[in-house]
Amino acid sequence: MAQFRIAPSILSANFAKLGQEITDVIASGADIIHFDVMDNHYVPNLTIGPLVCEAIRPLTSAIIDVHLMVKPVDRIIPDFAKAGANIITFHPEASEHIDRSLALIKDQGCKAGLVFNPATPLHWMDHVMDKLDMVLLMSVNPGFGGQKFIPEALNKLRLARQKIDAYREKTGREIWLEIDGGVKVDNIAEIARAGADTFVAGSAVFGAGKESDPHRYDSIIAALRTELAK
Ligand code: DX5
Ligand code: ZN
Repeated sequence: MAQFRIAPSILSANFAKLGQEITDVIASGADIIHFDVMDNHYVPNLTIGPLVCEAIRPLTSAIIDVHLMVKPVDRIIPDFAKAGANIITFHPEASEHIDRSLALIKDQGCKAGLVFNPATPLHWMDHVMDKLDMVLLMSVNPGFGGQKFIPEALNKLRLARQKIDAYREKTGREIWLEIDGGVKVDNIAEIARAGADTFVAGSAVFGAGKESDPHRYDSIIAALRTELAK
């Protein structure tokens, strides 16, 4: 069976208790912390930067997956690498030199990936496959949590899966295929069938359960995994 990874987006966490939120969600079985970085320039919202990444790094050995929604891209990459990011992804439209930005991420010792907005064509990845560890498809327009999954993302996932599988057959290298936006218990199985192996879920996870319950994320993460096992 394919290996599936669940990546709660801390965008929807309670920022007043961020450390506890991260500890709880990992204890409940999440694989990855998805860390959304917005600059109020590339996207119309403003979130968190390397200082917060550095602060949460000691709390978990789980992968920290930094999703940069910033422009320019390059100057913030070394800071996130120093802050303990494991994966850094960026939007090709936000970089003047995509190959150079990917190389910079790799030089800093991190895994690198490209993020595709709903209308961004996949061909941006064609000539940089050797530098990609992850492809992230947005199934909402970036900037906010809690939006509705755009169904066309399923067709795009199938295309991305074909490209990634063809590349793996040729080279033996694995590239993760992540989906971000509107992932819920009722659509995750279909999204997996379309080819995703890594699932960002923000509002679905952090909106679950009662705040007073330290195990409030157990059942939502178990429910997502049950759907993935179908
Ligand atoms: C949106 C962010 C997402 C967001 C997903 O720009 O990249 O990671 O947190 O949130 P949900 O799962 O609520 O759609
Ligand atoms: Zn994201």
